[in-house]
Amino acid sequence: MKKLLLGVCLLIPALDGRAAQAPDTDTEANLAAAKISIQAFAASLQAELKTAMQSGGPVAGVAVCKTRAMEITVQAANAGMDLSRVSLRNRNPDNAPNSWQTAVLQDFERQKLAGEDVTALAWSETVDIDGNSEFRFMKAIPTAEVCLKCHGSTLAPGVGKVLSELYPQDKATGYKKGDIRGAFVAVRKLPN
Ligand code: HEC
Repeated sequence: MKKLLLGVCLLIPALDGRAAQAPDTDTEANLAAAKISIQAFAASLQAELKTAMQSGGPVAGVAVCKTRAMEITVQAANAGMDLSRVSLRNRNPDNAPNSWQTAVLQDFERQKLAGEDVTALAWSETVDIDGNSEFRFMKAIPTAEVCLKCHGSTLAPGVGKVLSELYPQDKATGYKKGDIRGAFVAVRKLPN
């Protein structure tokens, strides 16, 4: 009897402790984790792109975007967050948005038209799919001046040729500074 009581007493604080620090089902914690992952992702991409463009020009930059973007995505995918980049006018066919991502990107475009600050556009929700919860976060990616070398109307010398070889279905040109180039996506499957 004594032994049983002790067991029960030990069990209760243990469960309490677990509930208090269960970050996976906590929206605030998921939001914070998503933002941190995306920041790390964006910073790595930008740093590698800058280095490549400084040493080899925009054509070398294309190679970084092509081969490194995916590797960096995988590296940055920590804390169970799946990271990706999507766009309504994607360059890589793998970066085409699915239906909920398309709806969010379209909503970002509407908010931009209504005068919202593109750098601040973000969205999140937790959905139930067949009894499993999933946390989803998206953040708009604004087009900066430097992006126009490979995403603008007048591309940097040599870039157009490389792009048409690598991405015959490229839709990601003709952007202007301040346009929404796409969005970062972070998805985390939540434990039941
Ligand atoms: C040196 C050329 C180059 C520059 C400069 C560049 N990009 Fe890209 N971008 C690419 C290439 C190539 C891809 C396709 C990458 C892949 O295959 O996944 C790409 C893909 C993307 C994607 C993924 C969606 C898609 O269209 O496939 C986003 C978002 C993006 N770029 C945003 C930007 C932003 C924002 C900037 C400026 C900060 C920028 N890029 C600057 C070449 C460039």
